[in-house]
Amino acid sequence: LGMRYLVTGGAGFVGSHVVLALLDQGHEVCVLDNLSTGHRAAVPEGVTFHHVDLIDYQATKNVVSQGRWDAVLHFAAISLVGDSMQAPFHYLRQNYLTGLNIVQACSEAGVRKFGFSSTAALFGGPERPDPIGETAEIQPGSPYGESKFLIERILQWADSAYGLKSACLRYFNAAGSDVAGRAGEDHRPETHLVPLAIDAALGRRPALKIFGTDYPTRDGSCIRDYVHVADVAEAHICALEQIETRSVAYNIGNGRGYSNFEIIQSVERVSGCKVPWKAAPRRQGDPAVLIADSTTIQRETGWAPKFEKLDQIVESAFRWRKAHPNGYGD
Ligand code: UFG
Repeated sequence: LGMRYLVTGGAGFVGSHVVLALLDQGHEVCVLDNLSTGHRAAVPEGVTFHHVDLIDYQATKNVVSQGRWDAVLHFAAISLVGDSMQAPFHYLRQNYLTGLNIVQACSEAGVRKFGFSSTAALFGGPERPDPIGETAEIQPGSPYGESKFLIERILQWADSAYGLKSACLRYFNAAGSDVAGRAGEDHRPETHLVPLAIDAALGRRPALKIFGTDYPTRDGSCIRDYVHVADVAEAHICALEQIETRSVAYNIGNGRGYSNFEIIQSVERVSGCKVPWKAAPRRQGDPAVLIADSTTIQRETGWAPKFEKLDQIVESAFRWRKAHPNGYGD
C-alpha cells in the first residue's frame, strides 16, 4: 500500500479521474502534462505537477528518473478520431514520439509496470465482430487508432528487452464524471457526444449535429459502448495488479451499445429538457458500431463496471456540467 504513481496526461479527462481513484486508495501521485488539452485546475491540490511536454526526451527522463515509481500510467495524447483523419502525420508523429519517449525513459529508469490508455479505435476494419474481444483483428480505422497501436507495439519491445510489464486498456467511449463531483469532462473545443448533447439541452449551444443518420443500425445513427470514466479508472487499478509477471491488453466497455439518438433520449430524461438536433453528414473515420467484449479483464482481475446504466453515466456528466458552466475556467 501507499505506492507511487506517475500519471502522464493526468490533467486530462480520463487521466484526472484515474488520479482521483489512486488518491482515494491512499497512493502518492505525480502528474506530468503539457496542458495542451488538459487543465491545471483538474489536478487536485497536494499532487506534484510537472509542466512537461513528452516530446522533450531529456525533460521526460528527468521526471521519470526523479522518483522510484511503482508504476507509470500514460494518458497524454491527442485523441480526436475526426481530427486525425484531417491531420494524419501530426497525429502519428505526436502520439508515437511522445509514447516512445515515455516508454524509453521508463525502461531505462527500471520502472517495472506501465499502464497505457489505448482505444477501441484499434478495431476500425470493415468486418468487426460484435461484441469486440481482444482476439478481434486489429485494423485501426484512423491515424489516431494507428498511433495508439504503434505504442502498444513499442510496449511489447520494452517488455522483451527491459522486462517492462504493461497493461494496454482499449477503452470504448469513456463518459460521465466523478460521482462525488470533483472532476468532469471539459475538452476545448468539445467534440464528444455526451457533453455536446448536455450543453444543447441546457441551451448553451445550438442544435446538436448528428453525424450520419443512414448507418446500417436500428435507427440509422452510430452505436457506441459508453463506459463510466470511474469504471475506466478502476480498470487501470485492477489491471496493474495483474502485471507482476506478464503484459496484458484488455478491452474496456459495458458490453452494450447505445445509438446517438438513444444518447439524446437519455440526456432528455436526465435533464428534463429537449435536445435540439439536426441531421448532418457522416464524420470520416467513424465505424457504425463499436461494442466491447470485456469478459477477459472481468475473468482475470474481477473488474466489473459499477455504473452500467446509461442514465447513471449521463447523470454524472450532467451534474458536473450544470454546476460548472465554464468547465475548469480559463
Ligand atoms: N457525434 C455526433 N455529433 C457530434 C459529436 C459526435 O453525431 O457533434 C457522434 C459521432 O459521429 C459518433 C458518436 O457521436 O458516432 C460518438 O462520438 P464521440 O466523438 O463522442 O466519440 P468517438 O466514438 O468518436 O471517439 C471516442 C474517443 C476516442 C476513442 C473512441 C473509441 O474520443 O478517443 O471513442 O471508441 F478512440
